[in-house]
Amino acid sequence: MTKDTSNQMWGGRFAAGPDAIMEAINASIGFDQRMAAQDIAGSRAHAAMLAKAGILTDSDAEAIREGLLTVLSEIDSGTFRFSTALEDIHMNVEARLKELIGAPAGRLHTGRSRNDQVATDFKLWVRDQIDAAMSGLEALIRALLVQAEAGADWVMPGFTHLQTAQPVTWGHHMMAYVEMFGRDKSRFEDARRRMNECPLGAAALAGTSFPIDRHMTAEALGFDGPAANSLDAVSDRDFALEFLAAASICAMHLSRFAEELVIWSSAQFRFVTLSDRFSTGSSIMPQKKNPDAAELIRAKIGRIFGANVALMTVMKGLPLAYSKDMQEDKEQVFDAADNLMLALAAMEGMVGDMSANRDSLEAAAGSGFSTATDLADWLVRALNMPFREAHHVTGTLVAMAEARGCDLPDLTLDDMQGVHGAITKEVFGVLGVHNSVASRLSYGGTAPERVREQVTRWQEKLA
Ligand code: ARG
Repeated sequence: MTKDTSNQMWGGRFAAGPDAIMEAINASIGFDQRMAAQDIAGSRAHAAMLAKAGILTDSDAEAIREGLLTVLSEIDSGTFRFSTALEDIHMNVEARLKELIGAPAGRLHTGRSRNDQVATDFKLWVRDQIDAAMSGLEALIRALLVQAEAGADWVMPGFTHLQTAQPVTWGHHMMAYVEMFGRDKSRFEDARRRMNECPLGAAALAGTSFPIDRHMTAEALGFDGPAANSLDAVSDRDFALEFLAAASICAMHLSRFAEELVIWSSAQFRFVTLSDRFSTGSSIMPQKKNPDAAELIRAKIGRIFGANVALMTVMKGLPLAYSKDMQEDKEQVFDAADNLMLALAAMEGMVGDMSANRDSLEAAAGSGFSTATDLADWLVRALNMPFREAHHVTGTLVAMAEARGCDLPDLTLDDMQGVHGAITKEVFGVLGVHNSVASRLSYGGTAPERVREQVTRWQEKLA
């Protein structure tokens, strides 16, 4: 190989170009071209700052600005030719700029390095994804609020251990997910606030001897200010890890909800009907309507949490400052972000379309002795019985009903009095599922009134 084949960006000290395998392992252009818009925005801010600081002439800065806009339009229109030999998006853009405007392109890299450049580009990219996740979550929350409002007083079984526990309302169950997705949204908000410091101008690792204005570039790129330590600025990937951590928790919530939808849409439960738009059929069993979207959402946590573990593992043990290991950050984050956005959109669509089967919910709500706790509470209130004793008396009545194959409200007053003589007919007032949920008026409880208050609180919060 001759010197001509060495890299045009950094090949000065190299006599030979890279081995094909070296080029293959080294290049990131296959994936980091997704950051082209961010890379060009960063370069435009940098060039404008260099001109303002008197480091570039205005005419060079203007040539760079126009050239970068041309590069961006070539990339947007798909005519740009990406080159693996040029390694990454930063050098691909700069090389094309040089073809377009000549010598001034070589001055763009003054006072910066690919290390601060890639940290800036990636941060801008992740910041956009955080914004997208927040709006996806907001849309999902809105869809849940519609469900909750419509079914604020529909009764259904509440479960613990997936065994019937106490009746709850459909609205209450929907609002539980509103709380979870609301926390997810606030985690993204929080991560965004903390990450919003600009690495640009940290240069390779130590800062630069040029009189740059890092506050100016930070402001131009929508950051709150420049990152305060140049070593940290080029070696920090916390922002990507926080995004992945928040995404993982969110995907875990989506997975739990998806699991419920899979169970609820089965013939054995029939709690909900999913729309045809979000279901698929079987190629062999004509009767089937499968909740594939829910199942895939349930599974997405695998790759999203996988990305979180992968990047944490890449970063572990890296000495300051930049190491090429950090190039392994992007694909994981891209994949996690793509799949999180898809899962959020699919869940929003499913929730918007799904119809709750009110009758099945109500029938299931009354089965499985779901009002046994109401009976025990009544014994405490009406007969001043200690709760432990009331628990025992109720257990005896449950066993009696179970032996007869009936539910608690089907027992007669005589049956009840046979177990405890002081029980009166008023007890039947608490054995109905509607009475049960209506009585749970404690703050955060399942009573329809409380659910409606929470729906209103969230509607106002999002307004
Ligand atoms: N493609 C590289 C990355 O993604 C850009 C930074 C390269 N810096 C360097 N000193 N080689 O991390």
